[in-house]
Amino acid sequence: MTDKPHVWVSRPTFPGVIARLEPHFVVSTEAEERKFSSSELAAKLAGQDAVIVGLKDRIGAAEVGGAERLRIVANLAVGYDNIDLDAMSAAGIAVSNTADVLNESVADYAWALLLGAARRMTAAERWLRAGQWHATGFKAWLGADVRGRTLGILGMGRIGQAIARRAVGFGMPVIYHNRSPLPAADERACNARHVDKQQLLCESDFLVLALPLTAQTRHAIGTPELALMKPTAMLVNIARGGIVDDAALAAAVRERRLAGAALDVFEGEPKVHPELLALDNVLLSPHIASATTETRRAMTSVAVDNVLALFGHGPHAGRPPNLLNPNVL
Ligand code: DGY
Repeated sequence: MTDKPHVWVSRPTFPGVIARLEPHFVVSTEAEERKFSSSELAAKLAGQDAVIVGLKDRIGAAEVGGAERLRIVANLAVGYDNIDLDAMSAAGIAVSNTADVLNESVADYAWALLLGAARRMTAAERWLRAGQWHATGFKAWLGADVRGRTLGILGMGRIGQAIARRAVGFGMPVIYHNRSPLPAADERACNARHVDKQQLLCESDFLVLALPLTAQTRHAIGTPELALMKPTAMLVNIARGGIVDDAALAAAVRERRLAGAALDVFEGEPKVHPELLALDNVLLSPHIASATTETRRAMTSVAVDNVLALFGHGPHAGRPPNLLNPNVL
């Protein structure tokens, strides 16, 4: 018998990073990545003192009801719409995320999607792989220049700002909408101008979504918002499925009311709306904006730091750096 606290890691991550827990915890890590049902999660959480979980793990009052020892849920993501924060606070359980370490990778990926959609990269690759390249048409595969066109950003947190900073190299003016405008110095640093949501929708040539999913932002982009966008505009979503009404987006693209879209996240993922799958001018990827080796390792490390800190270990002992509900301490 050991009196070390127990920590459960719900998916394989980086064993060398997780090993930092071993001097202080009994660690159990799932060998395979899978989606657990609510009752499976409840069974996994019971008896744990800490858990490191990911976006597939939906944790609310029902899942922690029998987890009497649980003190922290460390989420392997900056977004935490998979966790019912109010329910965790009510149960006295701390919640942490991985803010900051993924900003630059996600911003890079937003640009990869934007450029990929503008230049029709994945559709052209599919065509080549299908053996269709018999000759090159001078006017085949015409895309859209991004230089000089207006970049719009909805949600101007740290990821939105990292996306904006990259626009300088493309000579793109940047407008953004956020609940509150950035301080003037931050606006200058990313060369961006605050506008209201309507102006953002009307003026953006490329609109990138970088806001969290909450009850207020669900379907922030639906039929009425899409109707305000230019028919030549493209929508990029690296934020969360559910912020966009995917059926409305598919209809807008199909009917050429919008030139295209590039999506890393989907309503109800891993399911993808079948109409989006059928559209050649929609670039799709499986929620991988933060998926670089360096960043996913750093995210794991942040989760480990938060667990260690809550139990009084490591450089942040007693002060977990990424707590979302510090009131529970
Ligand atoms: C996040 O951190 O919220 C990302 O979407 C996960 O890759």
